[in-house]
Amino acid sequence: MKNTVNYQNFVYDLCEWYRINQRTLPFRKTRDPYAIFVSELMLQQTQVDTMIDYYNRFMASFPTIEALANAPLESVLKAWEGLGYYRRAAYVHKTAQKIVSEYQGAFPNNYKDLLKLPGVGRYTAGAILSIAYMIPTPAIDGNVFRVITRLLMIDDDITTAKAYQKVEKELQLMLAYDNPSDFTQALMELGALVCLRQPKCQICPVKSHCFAYEHSCQLAFPNKPKAKTKNMESQIAFIYENNGMFLLSKRPQTGLLANMFEFPQFQTTSLTAAIQSFNKIYNTIIQDTVLLTEFKHLFTHKIWQIRVYKIKTEVPITDSLYRLNTLPYAMSKAHLKIKDLI
Ligand code: ADE
Repeated sequence: MKNTVNYQNFVYDLCEWYRINQRTLPFRKTRDPYAIFVSELMLQQTQVDTMIDYYNRFMASFPTIEALANAPLESVLKAWEGLGYYRRAAYVHKTAQKIVSEYQGAFPNNYKDLLKLPGVGRYTAGAILSIAYMIPTPAIDGNVFRVITRLLMIDDDITTAKAYQKVEKELQLMLAYDNPSDFTQALMELGALVCLRQPKCQICPVKSHCFAYEHSCQLAFPNKPKAKTKNMESQIAFIYENNGMFLLSKRPQTGLLANMFEFPQFQTTSLTAAIQSFNKIYNTIIQDTVLLTEFKHLFTHKIWQIRVYKIKTEVPITDSLYRLNTLPYAMSKAHLKIKDLI
């Protein structure tokens, strides 16, 4: 039984496989750190297949970091609409402004300065350095964690600093054997296409190096504690229409879904309480409610249980009405679902 992985051979087999089998992706055609930054932030929340259209549209709208820095936040949120995690869009925008004002438009090429940028954590900093600048730096996301903990049978709880440091240290050694951009993306690609939660070991180019494969215990890695149960919040949303236009409200500038537009929504299980709140805010009286639908929307840390009602009011509302098909503002995913029902 072997007890060490020969990193030179592992990296060689992995990178050869990557160079032949990699998907053709738009952000792989560039070394522009701005483009890599945008793509990596989008990929932290979405599968590649969904993200490509967003990425292409985003780069067409904001082709340079200066273009992004000068754009209003609303248009950046709009370009992110449907991707989720809208705080990231605001971070991308803030980071662009910071790079233009403090770094003459050029992304820093060191870990310390990168980590100071809004939205840039260790993973993104590592990805920018290795992919854009070819500086050998580990970039550890969920896929990479899965591949490496299986390869080496690292059984520490992956939410601990110890597990992170072990993986980071081994990656640093591996990075010596090929170019950092290919190596980093090859690991991600393997995690995305082969070393899945249910791994496809039969087609794996590096299975001959893998401890977990050798011991038939792939599914035991990574060692991840059970997710906490999410809080359930009851929400009631109201759809009010006046002449093809719909009442929307803008969420506060901070907190969950900051600045996003939505149908007026109230956190309560009681329709009566929601009606009272609505009447007070809009200075009217709801006359009629019709339940349109009820659905759950999942966030990372909570679940919204949303009941959606169509309403009629005694006094017509004339302010804050918008045409939905030409709305220049971004709506959250949950409210895009509601919009699709109309
Ligand atoms: N996931 C995150 N970044 C990626 C990349 N550059 N290639 C493939 N999958 C990824």
